[in-house]
Amino acid sequence: MPTSKIGGIGSYVPENKVTNNDLKQFMDTSDEWIQERTGIKERRYAHRTNETTTTMAVEAAKIAIERAGITAQEIDFIIFATLSPDYYFPGCGVLVQRALQMKEIGALDIRNQCSGFVYALSVADQFIKTGMYKNILVIGSEKHSFGLDFSTRGRNVSVIFGDGAGAVVLQATEKAGQGILSTHLHSDGQSAELLAMYNPGTHANHWVTNPVASYNEAPAGDMFMSKEMIDKAENFPFMDGPAVFKKAIVKFPEVIQEALTKNGLATSDIDLLIPHQANLRISQFVQQKLGLRDDQVFNNIQHYGNTTAASIPIALCQAWEEGKVKEGDLVCLAAFGSGFTWGSALLRW
Ligand code: UT7
Repeated sequence: MPTSKIGGIGSYVPENKVTNNDLKQFMDTSDEWIQERTGIKERRYAHRTNETTTTMAVEAAKIAIERAGITAQEIDFIIFATLSPDYYFPGCGVLVQRALQMKEIGALDIRNQCSGFVYALSVADQFIKTGMYKNILVIGSEKHSFGLDFSTRGRNVSVIFGDGAGAVVLQATEKAGQGILSTHLHSDGQSAELLAMYNPGTHANHWVTNPVASYNEAPAGDMFMSKEMIDKAENFPFMDGPAVFKKAIVKFPEVIQEALTKNGLATSDIDLLIPHQANLRISQFVQQKLGLRDDQVFNNIQHYGNTTAASIPIALCQAWEEGKVKEGDLVCLAAFGSGFTWGSALLRW
């Protein structure tokens, strides 16, 4: 049975650097607060009109495909993880297929927010193991800057997020013990509303908060967004930060340990842990809880902020480019976020 390995990796971040001090012109915040609570010093914002979630993904994908030593025509399937798609529908996968002039292959979008890339990798892994596909393009990309509340009201969320994209080509390999050893996916929908963007959406609350809409006579132009929803900031992401933090620091170590146990390995065997870059304090907590040394954990949130589905492939790409991921290394990817959903992937590079 074939297993899957990362044959090529690429990333793309916009040129525009936005420091914590830059954000002070829009909201009541400070460099000290942001660095102390999150570790973030700066993030990148995509060009307002010329860069989208898909265009950034395409740049990352081109690098990944080239490094895999294949052409876009040889990709068999696309899996695209994002919460900030170019369109409400269709998803970004087909836009990448079009932009890279690929064959009429399948394209799947994954909506699992911060754990989107781990979920996408896991789905790709299953397709390769069954022999269905040989080269799958797996992408995480986000353009958060288009939809954040930059007033003081939204500061707890807005200062965290940044834009960027990462991509890998997952390829079939017959080399025993190489590539993805296992993936582990979880969810708990009890807390779905603690980290969410409620509108536009079809949930029941939509009809409650929209005073003029009803199932029988919904005014056409009012289906998705009423003035009241906008006034209540329901068109922006909502996050109960402390609640998410508390759950994250339990689930991250748990799902990493699950992957190690499944493979008969210990934390001391990890060469590099790449946690989803949610908050540097979360990564530090996880490191401490698992007893990992500094050189066993890779973080770059200081420079890119939290790029949700893109954070793991961007960090993995940087670590690989810096020579911190070498052949034979045991690499662990782990994520937690909105849903709640969380997961891990253990790889032998
Ligand atoms: O990647 C997806 C998963 N997301 C996460 O894992 C995020 C998890 N949560 C977090 O990272 C943290 O909860 C945050 C960084 C979002 C917030 O940090 P916190 O230490 O939990 O702060 P808080 O929300 O409890 O707010 C503490 C205070 C509040 O003021 P008062 O009520 O104590 O006067 C906030 O209004 O900090 C205030 N505050 C800010 N002050 C300056 C919130 N955001 C800001 C800000 N600048 N940007």
